[in-house]
Amino acid sequence: LTTLMLAGIRDILIIVNPGDRAAFENLLGDGTSWGINIAYAEQQRPGGLPEAYILGADFIGGSSSMLILGDNIYFGQGFSHTLQHAVAHNDGMTAFGYHVTDPQNFGVVELDAQGRVVSLEEKPAKPKSSIAVTGMYICDAEAVAMAQTLKPSARGELEIVDILKSYAAKNKLKVERLGRGVAWLDTGSPHGLMQAAHFVETIETRQGFMIACPEEIAYRRGYIDQSHLVKLADGLGKTSYGAYLRQVAQEMLPPP
Ligand code: G1P
Repeated sequence: LTTLMLAGIRDILIIVNPGDRAAFENLLGDGTSWGINIAYAEQQRPGGLPEAYILGADFIGGSSSMLILGDNIYFGQGFSHTLQHAVAHNDGMTAFGYHVTDPQNFGVVELDAQGRVVSLEEKPAKPKSSIAVTGMYICDAEAVAMAQTLKPSARGELEIVDILKSYAAKNKLKVERLGRGVAWLDTGSPHGLMQAAHFVETIETRQGFMIACPEEIAYRRGYIDQSHLVKLADGLGKTSYGAYLRQVAQEMLPPP
């Protein structure tokens, strides 16, 4: 959610499995209190990432869109700028490549010296590169029609790599490298969740800035004003989260 906010996106559709919808709605609401608009849609079974474009077709309404996996965490200096630049300059599709030690567990992209896409493979046994395609994609309006005509893969899901390949075939795919100064973490397994928790706790404790705080982002971007932020802080009572929001509201922390 906050990655999309940092990209400057204020209309957000959260796709959840039916059983989890109430919990998400309870936690995040409709976005009004953060100056954004959050809607919800349900995916009945794990049918693959491109289903987001099918389930979200009306929401997208012929515009460009950005898709991000709910269990992906990104952190790094200048990352918001990278996102905003990518959104502003997208022509077709933009994806993000990241060096990993286990590319076989991801979509893998091979790039030439100029950064052009040479090959794309989903979870290859013998990866042609160590560059994983992260779970964040910016697409123009075409993605919806492409997703609607996709056929499921051997694992029974629609594959985002097939959308990437369609754009690549039209010379409309850009893969932007996220460098080693950016952390890309995955919280989709207990191990990954623990690693991400350690990472976030380490940085937050050291710096005193919170990572991925929607209220702070909304305030710094001018979606909500100071008195509204104080009200949100007051609603959190004596918690450390509330205290942090009060610090932000009183301009006690320097802007990023
Ligand atoms: C999905 C995509 C894969 C991508 C990964 C990023 O994998 O299919 O291309 O690299 O997300 O997290 P899945 O989560 O379906 O295993």
